[in-house]
Amino acid sequence: MTRVLSVASECVPLVKTGGLADVAGALPAALTGAGVEMRTLIPGYPAVMAALGPEAPVAFDLGDMYGAPVRVRRGALGDTVLYALEAPHLYDRPGSIYLGPDGKDWPDNPERFAALSFAAARIATDGIEGWNPEVLHLHDWQAGLTPVYLQQMGAADRVATLLTVHNIAFQGLAPAIRAVPLGLPLHGFHPQGFEYYNKISALKAGLVYSDAINTVSPTYAAELMTPEFGMGLDGVMRDRRAVVSGILNGIDLDAWTPPYKTPAGKAKQTAALRKVMRLPPSDGPLCVVISRLTEQKGLDLLLEVLPDLLATGAQLALLGSGNADLETAFRNAAERNTGVSVRIGYDEELAHQLIAGGDVILVPSRFEPCGLTQLYGLRYGTLPLVSLTGGLADTVIPASAAGIAAKVATGLQFFPVDAQSLRGTVVRMGALWHNREVWQTMMRNAMAHPVGWDQSARDYAALYDSLKKAP
Ligand code: ADP
Ligand code: GLC
Repeated sequence: MTRVLSVASECVPLVKTGGLADVAGALPAALTGAGVEMRTLIPGYPAVMAALGPEAPVAFDLGDMYGAPVRVRRGALGDTVLYALEAPHLYDRPGSIYLGPDGKDWPDNPERFAALSFAAARIATDGIEGWNPEVLHLHDWQAGLTPVYLQQMGAADRVATLLTVHNIAFQGLAPAIRAVPLGLPLHGFHPQGFEYYNKISALKAGLVYSDAINTVSPTYAAELMTPEFGMGLDGVMRDRRAVVSGILNGIDLDAWTPPYKTPAGKAKQTAALRKVMRLPPSDGPLCVVISRLTEQKGLDLLLEVLPDLLATGAQLALLGSGNADLETAFRNAAERNTGVSVRIGYDEELAHQLIAGGDVILVPSRFEPCGLTQLYGLRYGTLPLVSLTGGLADTVIPASAAGIAAKVATGLQFFPVDAQSLRGTVVRMGALWHNREVWQTMMRNAMAHPVGWDQSARDYAALYDSLKKAP
């Protein structure tokens, strides 16, 4: 059994803002069958500490950090071990885990996640409860400083580090002056180290100092090396090309199981969803969206194309939250059109109803490292209509003439990622919908497409194995 400590800032079922939480929550169980013992370290936010309870044993004492004592407590994540970093002065706050009440990053985010990274490095150096991880699996910028601390502690030649980039848009920047309080070695503050345009970049630290890097789809791994997608870090990615790989995310097949086995079984769910969303009965396809409302997700393109979508006879049901302008624009669209229904907020149950009842899931992202909702769509025969980018390109087989003829298509793809090409694909969706035989073949193909963790768990297991260092 390879021993791996996974270090993440969110984790289902305890705390989630996006797909990272799903992945961190699902990996340990998925890996158990692949010969990996994964334990997980996350910050002790209020929901996490409440789930562990006051009796949770203290597994590691870090002493004082940033003005108050910090400890690690042990809990459980399904059948695996979960460690929570107990630091009330850093994590015991109401509201968002990343943002203060003003909607801006908590000002001490650099310290909050440096503490997480430091704790991971200490655990790797000293072991925890007699357990010594061989690999640290670090997720995104919040765990990015870990390999720097690990080097300082002199354990980098014993314990391997893998950084997974879930989203390069978030880089964990901090003013240079924080290097000393963060305990970072000043000799690393240069362009070949963790310096990024005169700031500290936690993500860059992870990219530069980890033994290996991966991201959550092969296409995104290649895209990250281009200026268009690398968000300023494409040069670093190219420098480290030899250790970069792409491993697709899976989804939790138990949490996402359709309440029907065949395409025909879906109709009831669709009727129920129309009632829930207060949409009138219709012969057209019901298109759904479940998304953070941000620039990344390309939903402004959907707003532009909405009249064309409705003109095909389709309806739209959207669940999402985020950018205030997008929220308002979608609310207005729902007021003006009987065929549009919008819920602003976060709602797991409604997300399931939308996937079960929808005919099409729309994911028009400008970039998408992997994407999970198109995978839910595949499993439920809710055909994904997606942009040709990142994980969307790797998981959907487009309804091209060849794809249809070979009976392998599972959805629709558009490229380039602009309103005109989305419009063309929406019109094509409308036409395909009326070819019931082709549509149902696509549904069956989609439902048969593997979207679980099996293959990816094996890929991660092999990667950890290749990284392990001699004791
Ligand atoms: P990202 O991580 O970039 O937001 P993903 O597609 O990887 O994108 O993951 C998003 C996850 O969050 C999915 O599990 C999706 O169902 C969920 N999600 C997003 N918005 C909402 C919402 N408003 N309500 C419920 N679930 C949501
Ligand atoms: C990020 C990406 C998303 C990916 C998720 C989990 O939030 O935006 O594409 O699926 O991480 O890896």
